Amino acid sequence: EIQVVFPPEQTLALIKPDTVEEHKDEILKAIQDAGFSILHMMAVCLSQADIEKLYRKLQDKPFFNQLVDFMCSGPCMALILSKFRAVHEWRAMMGPTDPCQARETAAESLRVHFGKDILHNAVHGSSSSERANEEIHLVFGDVCREENQASLLHEAS
Ligand code: TYD
Repeated sequence: EIQVVFPPEQTLALIKPDTVEEHKDEILKAIQDAGFSILHMMAVCLSQADIEKLYRKLQDKPFFNQLVDFMCSGPCMALILSKFRAVHEWRAMMGPTDPCQARETAAESLRVHFGKDILHNAVHGSSSSERANEEIHLVFGDVCREENQASLLHEAS
């Protein structure tokens, strides 16, 4: 008997600052209903330096400063999601970058549902598996290190 195992992949999801307070619960429910496992979740105020690293490819764009200011304007909800093809699946659930353009296609997505405009588009998701690893490290690196140390201390005691 052949058993096919689909290895899970991880991705970073952010619920952006203007969306956390009002729509966090609905978005978390949608994530769980879509079959993602939430490995880690925390509210986090990302520093300007972290946001600049997260969006480093866009640093020459005219909207870069606005983007950084917006993402620093309050706490984000950060999640590590796990699922087979999590990067692709989460981006499909988010929808296209511009919620206004996306509305014309009438395809339902989180950005169509909760986004206001191209800047205030409700959620973030890593663009590739490599970026996901970098972004998870950027946002959760310290937390995971603290947890590992805590579990090492626990094992030692
Ligand atoms: P980008 O990485 O191109 O898109 P995505 O978030 O879908 O991966 O852009 C990052 C963020 O920058 C985007 O979520 C919102 C903001 N942005 C603007 O404000 N104006 C723009 O014209 C673009 C392309 C992005």
